[in-house]
Amino acid sequence: MSSSAAPHYPFVFAADSPMIAVYRTLERVLENTTTVLIEGESGTGKDALAQWLHFQSPWRDNPYIKIDFASLPDDLVESELFGYERGAFTGAVNSKVGKLDLAQNGTVVFDEIVNVDLNVQAKLLNVVEAKQYYRLGGTRPIELDCRIVALSSISLSRAVERQIFRQDLFFRLNLITVRIPPLRDRKSEVLGIAEYLMGQLEKKYRKAMHIHPDCKAVLETYDFPGNVRELRNGFERALLLSAGRDITPEALPSSWQTPRLSSSKMMSLDDVEKEYIVEVLRQTRGKKVKAAKILGISRKTLLEKRKKYGLD
Ligand SMILES: Nc1ncnc2c1ncn2[C@@H]1O[C@H](COP(=O)(O)OP(=O)(O)O)[C@@H](O)[C@H]1O
Ligand SMILES: [Mg+2]
Repeated sequence: MSSSAAPHYPFVFAADSPMIAVYRTLERVLENTTTVLIEGESGTGKDALAQWLHFQSPWRDNPYIKIDFASLPDDLVESELFGYERGAFTGAVNSKVGKLDLAQNGTVVFDEIVNVDLNVQAKLLNVVEAKQYYRLGGTRPIELDCRIVALSSISLSRAVERQIFRQDLFFRLNLITVRIPPLRDRKSEVLGIAEYLMGQLEKKYRKAMHIHPDCKAVLETYDFPGNVRELRNGFERALLLSAGRDITPEALPSSWQTPRLSSSKMMSLDDVEKEYIVEVLRQTRGKKVKAAKILGISRKTLLEKRKKYGLD
């Protein structure tokens, strides 16, 4: 599952993985409730890492509570977070516990914290700084005893520059900050991660599958803007659609099948066309009808081009 370099780090598949530094940093704060900020593009595994942090900590048996600010309507944020006392506002016939109440002695995760509006950010500052909060309509401060983990798919320092995020709150959160690099910056690990995800999918669907070695080239060429989430979805689809036991490159999403272009080797359009046709024929194992369909040309045009480029 993991490489020998770091046996207890999930998702590390290369001895020089940038994730090793991420885990080493987090290991230093496992035993205390220091606030942690995790940045990384969507789908890189911020949630997964926050869970790892919680389940490695001494309070792993206590609650893990996540608040997703991306999906929570603005007018519900405060009551969700802080809870409210009876009569706090019209309609508050009973009191309600908030997510912070539920997170006591455990970990609370603020997902996409940049979506919190500026008024509520002022209240969050107090939560992070003083580890205190008030129920809506409450008069006594409540001590918060838990780890706070903030997640963001955009850089919080840039959000401060754009004046959509309070600088003081950013400083408070930016104590122990880790950044999960996007998949395109750790290409050597993509196949390993894919194999790991396949293992999970095999269990889910009770179907034994094997990633054909030819998939490696596709995985190392494509940029995966949706990161691990996109990788997993692509293999889930391939597993479901493949008849045999092999996941071949053709079974992977067509959007992943980009022709290889390197800036060091600038080619003529003819060269690019030739190289791409060769690649498509290789991946379709010479099936001309299928290749022509992928290329968006007729079978006759494909035959002409094969002749032109001497591919017969
Ligand atoms: N360490 C991991 N172990 C297993 N699956 C992972 C891991 N990291 C990411 N994934 C997969 O990628 C998807 C996106 O991960 P998630 O943590 O939700 O990313 P983010 O919060 O950065 O958008 C998850 O649904 C999961 O399938
Ligand atoms: Mg997420």
